[in-house]
Amino acid sequence: MKLIINECLARIRAESPKIVSKEMGVFYNHVMSLNRDISILLLNSINKSDMQIADPLAASGVRSIRFLKELKKGKLKKIFINDHNKAAVRSIKENLSLNNINVKNNKIEIKDQDANLFLLNSKGFDYIDIDPFGSPNFLLNNAIVRLARNGILAVTATDTSALCGTFPNACVRKYWAVPKKGALMHEIGLRILIRKVQLVAAQFDKALVPIFSYAKEHYMRVFLKNNKGKNKADEILKLHGMLGDAGPMWLGRLWYDKLASEICSQALKNELFNKDKELIKFLKIIKEESKIDAVGFYDAHDICEKNKIGNLQKKSAIIEGIRKLRYSASETHFKGEGIRSNIPYQKLLRIMK
Ligand SMILES: C[S@@+](CC[C@H](N)C(=O)[O-])C[C@H]1O[C@@H](n2cnc3c(N)ncnc32)[C@H](O)[C@@H]1O
Repeated sequence: MKLIINECLARIRAESPKIVSKEMGVFYNHVMSLNRDISILLLNSINKSDMQIADPLAASGVRSIRFLKELKKGKLKKIFINDHNKAAVRSIKENLSLNNINVKNNKIEIKDQDANLFLLNSKGFDYIDIDPFGSPNFLLNNAIVRLARNGILAVTATDTSALCGTFPNACVRKYWAVPKKGALMHEIGLRILIRKVQLVAAQFDKALVPIFSYAKEHYMRVFLKNNKGKNKADEILKLHGMLGDAGPMWLGRLWYDKLASEICSQALKNELFNKDKELIKFLKIIKEESKIDAVGFYDAHDICEKNKIGNLQKKSAIIEGIRKLRYSASETHFKGEGIRSNIPYQKLLRIMK
């Protein structure tokens, strides 16, 4: 049954099933509202206006409608809303009019093409949002080809069973890297995904640098900025490598710390977001961890178990202990028990003992 759903400023008429799957028709997925919130916050935090935006896998159109209603004035020049499913395109049109947005508005173009054809037939975009079921692989080439200089590519991957190591062969086939199950699996999976996107981009002399990344629920998400040029692409490839026996993966920064900070303050200033405790907590943690240049994090539980430490101190006390030794430390959004820090292991062990 179709319901009317409000998500921030958008009003959507769509099915809202408890469990979602690829086989279903057009539906609204509440779990991904935070994914859409962060897209809006990010675009409102960067110094870009008059953007040509592509939503090639639009489903109910909720993401595009939110862009139209929630992006700051002057940000959006034109948005292209596409889905190959005819029912989705009907739903996009219905939802636009439910939001009193005129479909004939010259800021909007609705398409019903295969997403690859849609991208190939277009001129270029400042922001492309790839939000598929499963792997984004099928769309990477053409999205990257159509990404403008300094443009931003947003990529979601929901095939975490491959990226996090439940099906390692699938990860090798699809992402050309070996994953690793365990405490770090989400960070490793995200870094493997980033490297894959960067390898595809390097073929076209484009250097895609992650500016904001995270893993949440059943998905991974990364925003990458396109720096064009052979030398820049070469520099990116130098930052690919192994973490233990997992990888190769991206070993550079996952965030621009200033952007992570700006996104958090935009959320705190905005009434649409500042009462959302889950979102605010999430953004505050990322803001802190974005300042620390470290690949991976320490898992306090793991360390206690391996070293037979009976008394696990509070995470805040351990972080304070690390900072007293003049190393940086913070929580990590990847894992509740995790501590991101540049402190050497032996020194951390002394604090924990
Ligand atoms: C996960 S949903 C997108 C959700 C949407 N981005 C949001 O935020 O609500 C994926 C959508 O991609 C569409 N799709 C899948 N493969 C496609 C293709 N090759 N070309 C165009 N649309 C495609 C499906 O019809 C589906 O509506």
